Amino acid sequence: MRVAASAPGKVTLFGEHAVVYGHPAIVAALDKRVYAYAEPRSDDVVKISAKDLRVPGLIVSYVGGELVLETDYGAVLPAIAYVSKAVEVAARYLDVRKGVNVEIRSEMPVGAGLGTSAAVAAATITAFAAAHGYELAGEEVANLAWEVEKGVQGIASPMDSSITALGGYLKISYGSGGAIERVALKVPKEPLLVVGYVERVARTKEMVELVRARLFENPDLYGEILRLIGRLAVEAEKALLRGDLRTLGSLMNVNHALLDALGVSTRRLNELVQVAREAGAYGAKLTGAGGGGCVIALAPENADAVEVAMRLHGSMVFRARLGAEGVRVEAL
Ligand code: PMV
Repeated sequence: MRVAASAPGKVTLFGEHAVVYGHPAIVAALDKRVYAYAEPRSDDVVKISAKDLRVPGLIVSYVGGELVLETDYGAVLPAIAYVSKAVEVAARYLDVRKGVNVEIRSEMPVGAGLGTSAAVAAATITAFAAAHGYELAGEEVANLAWEVEKGVQGIASPMDSSITALGGYLKISYGSGGAIERVALKVPKEPLLVVGYVERVARTKEMVELVRARLFENPDLYGEILRLIGRLAVEAEKALLRGDLRTLGSLMNVNHALLDALGVSTRRLNELVQVAREAGAYGAKLTGAGGGGCVIALAPENADAVEVAMRLHGSMVFRARLGAEGVRVEAL
């Protein structure tokens, strides 16, 4: 039987980099999803098709008001590594030895720091399980998807796999011991974000290493910045829970300034943040590891103006609602 599962992308609202050192971060699921279709085979072959994966930085077009980016096969190849690893991990976990046809589609650009690799892993695991008659709990998918990310990348934070599996909003902390604390937040008002993407000039690993080097050079100063970022996440949680978007926006601005102080922002990201604020966003910050990638602007009122301003500034832009449902089996 052919089945489908989908899993959402994510944004880090607060706490990237500081989360590596045990401070809390707040992440939210995006209303943009990755879909995996799975069909068991009678032999043991695994066939993967990912023709529809959208990759940033290539051909951009609009179809029915939706941003569509044409596929670049070079960038799709790494995405396929997540699919095959996910099949391997799920097959081992469920002790299933049959082959499968898997097809992947994405509503988001891949590799832009929106958690697509974890979403690919979670959707594939869930579709593979459903195709063989199994239903997995969200926590199980979170742990398996994390295993996939670690298997492909060598090192991965549990943030992306947790949020794509469980959805909504999570306050996450993890220490060096490996224990993960995930707290689901009940947010009354779903904030509207405008997300802009600029080309990445550095990878997550390099950005994490840069922060580690600075911390090594001057532990007092950089440790204090990371501690402050952690404190922002705690304040942001309160603002989110009471639906206070103005305060949330100001806290995003402070978070961006601290990320810049850590050295992970770029001129383009700083400009994009500034442009969004000037166009009426309540707040804006880079999201994810930095070195290029995405900026999120909180724009409950002036989303049109913010979107146009960010687009004119040369970034690829889309709007996103937060708090989407985690991984799920889809009716076909
Ligand atoms: O850019 P992303 O989505 O890979 O974000 C990385 C988040 C960091 O906090 C910088 C790293 C981590 O392991 O948590």
